[in-house]
Amino acid sequence: MNRVYIKTYGCQMNERDSEAVAALLRARGYRMVQDENACDVMLLNTCSVRDAAEQKAIGKAANVSQKRKHNPRFILGILGCMAQNRGAELLDALPDVDLIVGTQKFHQVPDYLDNLRAAQEAGTPIGNTIIDIAEEAGSQNTIRDHVLEESQVTAFVSIQQGCNMDCAFCIVPKTRGDERSRPMNEIVRECEQLAERGVREITLLGQIVTSYGRRDYEHTGGITPFVQLLEHINAIPGIRRIRFTSPHPRGFKDDLIQAYGRLEKLCEYVHLPLQSGSDRILKAMNRPYSRDRYKQIVDDLRRVRPDMYFSTDIIVGFPGETEDDFQQTRELFEACNYDMAYVFKYSIRTGTPAATLEDQIPDEVKEARNNQLLAILAANSDRRNATLLGTTLEVLVEGPDKKGRGFMGRTRGNRIVHFEANERLIGELVPVKIERASTAVLYGSLILAGVESPESKA
Ligand code: 5AD
Repeated sequence: MNRVYIKTYGCQMNERDSEAVAALLRARGYRMVQDENACDVMLLNTCSVRDAAEQKAIGKAANVSQKRKHNPRFILGILGCMAQNRGAELLDALPDVDLIVGTQKFHQVPDYLDNLRAAQEAGTPIGNTIIDIAEEAGSQNTIRDHVLEESQVTAFVSIQQGCNMDCAFCIVPKTRGDERSRPMNEIVRECEQLAERGVREITLLGQIVTSYGRRDYEHTGGITPFVQLLEHINAIPGIRRIRFTSPHPRGFKDDLIQAYGRLEKLCEYVHLPLQSGSDRILKAMNRPYSRDRYKQIVDDLRRVRPDMYFSTDIIVGFPGETEDDFQQTRELFEACNYDMAYVFKYSIRTGTPAATLEDQIPDEVKEARNNQLLAILAANSDRRNATLLGTTLEVLVEGPDKKGRGFMGRTRGNRIVHFEANERLIGELVPVKIERASTAVLYGSLILAGVESPESKA
């Protein structure tokens, strides 16, 4: 009765939270399973950033509780952002949910499951849902345990939780709370331990990582705490690559831009959320930068790293977005020449300032704008891939490709590459000659040992 299946919706932070919950549950004697039809406990770790994400999880929970009606010992829990956002109100739609746990209480999940199971053993009908969506000081420090699969070479490390930016569209300040950072030495120790366990690439996670430690640490010599943290991780011998997500454009001051020139492990791939290319809409979104300032950051980063790869987040159809506003976005989107982008149709989030704005945009308009940007993105990606054909890139070998055809890894620019290799190379940085490309994946061949990769940073 101790088999737990966790389904994760949404962002990498959620994936990381689920992993930390899994590590705690394992330590408590629970068994994590991959088959949702063979579990005794199902936990849905949810996302609230758009309505569709909430609906998906609600649909899943309704479906599961329907199917499991005959099994009184089955436990269904809802964790994370939607639990935080909606709390007990979820029971209106989902009366059979046993557990509702918010974003600051993940570490309590083992205790709550133990309690639910003890109640079952005692023959007390469950029926009393455990709900905990309180705030907890220091909860950012509880996401630190990892379940590493054998030969796992990449890992997420949570450095910061919450966001104080108040973007008009965004529910995250409500679901994740105020900005709180983990102590720098604990993060560095976690990265060192991951390196000892074979991890070679670290992705630092937070809702606004560039604000890391801003209230806890001094700027020293014009260097922000976030860049200080990058410096420390860059100095860990076993770590070969560093990435982070998500930053805020306002965090790209000179110290971070220069870091790309001097921290050799910092990968030349930046996810830089734009949201809109119209100054008028940026203002309405309460995003504190202009299109010119944003483009300046892109240009500055390309000056330091001419081979920089960019990705972004865009919202189309924010309330009041005119055709002219959208054209501004489209133009800047083209000018930035993104390699990757996440384009979202604006979704009303109750409780956010933008939810009550007039002039909501019809769905067909959002859809059309969305499609225009996706078409540009696909063309950009193909164009970038064409420049990579015939070149040799440094690839971190992650493991067998999921479909069982050869191996997969990533370039520093975060491009996925498929190639033939063997188990011994997992965790190695190897030169791969790129021979072929689809829009999303590169295909190549390992260059034999002794041949130097031009991109190699070893
Ligand atoms: N509607 C659509 N997209 C949104 N995002 C955040 N809130 C909304 C919303 N209400 C997008 C932003 C953010 C990403 C994680 O999700 O682009 O950067």
